[in-house]
Amino acid sequence: MCELDARRVAEIARQYPNVSVTQSFDDVVGDPSIDGLILATPASTHADMAIRALDAGKHVLVEKPLSLTVEEGARIVAEAERCGRVLLVGHTFEYNAAVRKVRELIAAGDIGELYYLYSQRVNLGRVRNDCNAMWSLAPHDVSIANFLIGEPPIWASATGHRFLENDREDVVFLNIGYPGGRIAHVHVSWLDPNKIRRTTVVGSEKMIVYDELSANAKVQVFDKGVSKVPLQGSDYAAPPFGEFQFQTRTGDIWIPNVDFAEPLRAEIAHFVDCINGRAEPLTDGHNGLAVVRVLAAAQESMENGGTPVDVR
Ligand SMILES: NC(=O)c1ccc[n+]([C@@H]2O[C@H](COP(=O)([O-])OP(=O)(O)OC[C@H]3O[C@@H](n4cnc5c(N)ncnc54)[C@H](O)[C@@H]3O)[C@@H](O)[C@H]2O)c1
Repeated sequence: MCELDARRVAEIARQYPNVSVTQSFDDVVGDPSIDGLILATPASTHADMAIRALDAGKHVLVEKPLSLTVEEGARIVAEAERCGRVLLVGHTFEYNAAVRKVRELIAAGDIGELYYLYSQRVNLGRVRNDCNAMWSLAPHDVSIANFLIGEPPIWASATGHRFLENDREDVVFLNIGYPGGRIAHVHVSWLDPNKIRRTTVVGSEKMIVYDELSANAKVQVFDKGVSKVPLQGSDYAAPPFGEFQFQTRTGDIWIPNVDFAEPLRAEIAHFVDCINGRAEPLTDGHNGLAVVRVLAAAQESMENGGTPVDVR
């Protein structure tokens, strides 16, 4: 365990007496007995530290977001490829059994055509000093949206507001456009009375709500939809040609069984499997960079009055 803060070092040493602790990153990258490391430092430090570790021949799991700029993220990905080392990005929700269940249902065609999805990740705090609420919270939702939609996004737009006068957006409303006219909307905030972690997926046949905070109904499938049917004629008049009406349909709500395992444990086990050559990284550097591209485009949009910015 490597930690700069002496108080945290003391705490870790007390809590985990069998773990060696150092305050110097040089000790870690210079230790030949270390094969891989998990970088859980502030996002602004990821690029420099990941590149140093990869250069020293270590496999690296970088916590989300991979970086705070596309250029930095691309440098990390290139370095991992040059060094032939595993680079995994900590998009924890792609290891989450409930999110994987939602993806399974979409892939099986259960909801029909996926129209759009939206998610909310809001609560009070934690206000960060090195990035705004979008870079802190939205990596999860962008990774979930990319994972569920399964195609690279085309554009992003965002509006955000700085209420705490700390030069960083405290609340952000982000929109992402995907091929086929599908859209994802993400609302993140560290200035909100409620803790919400919920994603709603709307399809042509069914709708799904994934609520991370629900104890026993993390995934709910709603047999609800709207059908377009030709307008019926009355007893006296023929139906107008080409006119339709919309009929809503409300059926059962189904709670699929989810064998929930701790996602972080699954992610770290996967990192070890990748190091040992037993698996290919699920959330590799390109996956992490795809998320950074969306956030960078959204940041640019936010600074230009919310105009959509090309992600590609
Ligand atoms: N996947 C998730 O669900 C999840 C959850 C929380 C945080 N994160 C991510 O984890 C990262 C860290 O977040 P946090 O909330 O733990 O931040 P934090 O600020 O609480 O902890 C980061 C620690 O890194 C230490 N540090 C900074 N530079 C260092 C260096 N050069 N060498 C050694 N230690 C150093 C700091 O002293 C601090 O204790 C961020 O990228 C964040 O986005 C991911």
